[in-house]
Amino acid sequence: MKFVVLCFLWAITITTSEQFTTYARAMNHVGISVTDIDAVLAWYHDVLGFTVLIAPVEIAVNNSTPMGSLLSQMYPPEMKRVKMAHMSSGNGVGLELFQFIDPPTRRPNTTSFEYSRAGLFHICVTDPEPENLVRRIVETGGKQISPVLTVFPGEIYQAVYTLDPFGNLVEIMATSYERQMSNRDPNVTSQISDPTITSRPSKSQQLSTSSVLQKIIAKN
Ligand SMILES: *[C@@H]1O[C@H](CO)[C@@H](O)[C@H](O)[C@H]1NC(C)=O
Ligand SMILES: *[C@@H]1O[C@H](CO)[C@@H](O)[C@H](O)[C@H]1NC(C)=O
Ligand SMILES: *[C@@H]1O[C@H](CO)[C@@H](O)[C@H](O)[C@H]1NC(C)=O
Repeated sequence: MKFVVLCFLWAITITTSEQFTTYARAMNHVGISVTDIDAVLAWYHDVLGFTVLIAPVEIAVNNSTPMGSLLSQMYPPEMKRVKMAHMSSGNGVGLELFQFIDPPTRRPNTTSFEYSRAGLFHICVTDPEPENLVRRIVETGGKQISPVLTVFPGEIYQAVYTLDPFGNLVEIMATSYERQMSNRDPNVTSQISDPTITSRPSKSQQLSTSSVLQKIIAKN
């Protein structure tokens, strides 16, 4: 009897682990901390046209409301108050804005482009006429920090880096990322200027990726 129960538990364990399937997850949202949530929301609404899903609300991070209670389980205890707002881009990827009130969000030390700092450093929107959007970004207090560049020699795909008025890097690409990057000869992609962009890995590269992953897991 004991043996049967053990076999049953073993079968459940095997089945459960086999049911985990790796596939390309959809990008759900990007979260950014800001020092003036109303100004940031207005800019992303007016300039990039993002939809406001939930306008800024201030939340006490304690058990006084369900959201406060939820946040108190996600953040360290010193985080007492925060303003949050929720926006949506044209293809449904969210932009979640946070203005920490207590303790306050720290203004970035610089409004320059901190490309060498590890972590999330830019978002990119698609606009078929990047020059027009760049002009609007500059008129509303942002900066253009690169020319409108052709990503692949001889093709129409364009990209340009800008800063929003709050110091966040916002790239604009003229077509979708997949349309620009998919199904390319890796030797062609290696010619593009952004060294972080790599081509779709071949089957053998995918295998070596998982051995890299195993090393990372072993280290931690
Ligand atoms: C929650 O925090 C707010 C603001 O910090 C405070 O006014 C309120 O009394 C607190 N409520 C509870 C139940 O701790
Ligand atoms: C900002 O960075 C500069 C240069 O790295 C440094 O000297 C300065 O102390 C920093 N300022 C603040 C407020 O952290
Ligand atoms: C890509 O470049 C490598 C090294 O220069 C070369 O050996 C290979 O043949 C190239 N592949 C294609 C498809 O052109």
